[in-house]
Amino acid sequence: MKSKVTENQFFSNTILSWYRENPRDLPWRETQDPYKIWLSEIILQQTRVAQGLPYYQAFVQTYPSVKELAEAPEKEVLRLWQGLGYYSRARNLHACAQYIWRELGGNFPNRYATLIQLKGVGSYTAAAISSFAFGEVQAVVDGNVFRVLARYFGIATNISSGKGKKEFEALANQLIPKNSPGEFNQAMMDFGSRCCAPKNPSCGECPLTASCFAFQKGLVASLPLKVNKTKVKDRTLNYLVIRCDGKLVWKKRGEGDIWTGLYDFPLLDQDSAPLQADLNQEARLFPKKYRHLLSHQRILACFWELELAPAKLLELEQWCQKKGLEVVEVGKIDALPKPKLILRYLTDREF
Ligand code: ADE
Repeated sequence: MKSKVTENQFFSNTILSWYRENPRDLPWRETQDPYKIWLSEIILQQTRVAQGLPYYQAFVQTYPSVKELAEAPEKEVLRLWQGLGYYSRARNLHACAQYIWRELGGNFPNRYATLIQLKGVGSYTAAAISSFAFGEVQAVVDGNVFRVLARYFGIATNISSGKGKKEFEALANQLIPKNSPGEFNQAMMDFGSRCCAPKNPSCGECPLTASCFAFQKGLVASLPLKVNKTKVKDRTLNYLVIRCDGKLVWKKRGEGDIWTGLYDFPLLDQDSAPLQADLNQEARLFPKKYRHLLSHQRILACFWELELAPAKLLELEQWCQKKGLEVVEVGKIDALPKPKLILRYLTDREF
């Protein structure tokens, strides 16, 4: 019988050989710059490589170092992030850049222990940055790694618990080779996304099937154990779209709800009652309703359009100022960071 060490070594060597034979050219793999690696890892959380790649390129070009990112206005950072979703990632990214630039004199934290203290950096991201940029022996465990390990080693622990996560991290840390931790981590992520895929994995081409627990027992479809699905809530948004003299009324979204820092319209139920009373105007419903799915909310959005006479502009501007709303010329709305839902509406209305 092979010893556990040899078995683990076989696994790690096979993963590394697979990776070397199936390389992918990804720009963040050609740099040791922790700033760029951090940027790529934050972008790639909850995002596929194909979708994240153009955003990574845009960010590196616009903000080549932590200094430029730190000095940018949050609105601009959110605008560049527009369409990628999970916008708290962008706000944390920006806050971190300011912290590193102002408090750490621009010196990027260079160890797992200090990286993990940054906003928005969890164990996964700290392990990724410390291993890729600094060669620290820290194993990453993301959804891909979790799946590979659960299947190969036959582990039926749910990763959504803290205990489950620790178990997988401990195993991954036993497997990671001390002389090539970054490469091994990249290899595990790639192997998980391209060979040991969630659906229709390529077991026919997999170099590990002979000793893969799930393959040998016919359990590939049942492992890993499904993580509890997050509850999704239904929500209706009734937007009031106020147009006046070539301008539109916008609302910058506050903290504690979806899309913090992004711009949408005042909500009929929350923001507009005084306006309707004051101006005694009728809003017309735009015939199309929009369904928009977020990770925790299923949104149905209706857009009530209100066109005010140009003579009302001053009155409108005064009211907006009181209500914390912004009146923006149609020609300038492109610069506002907006949720995809709003972009869809604007495109349909040909703004
Ligand atoms: N997903 C998350 N991090 C990644 C990386 N460094 N390479 C490819 N996919 C990833």
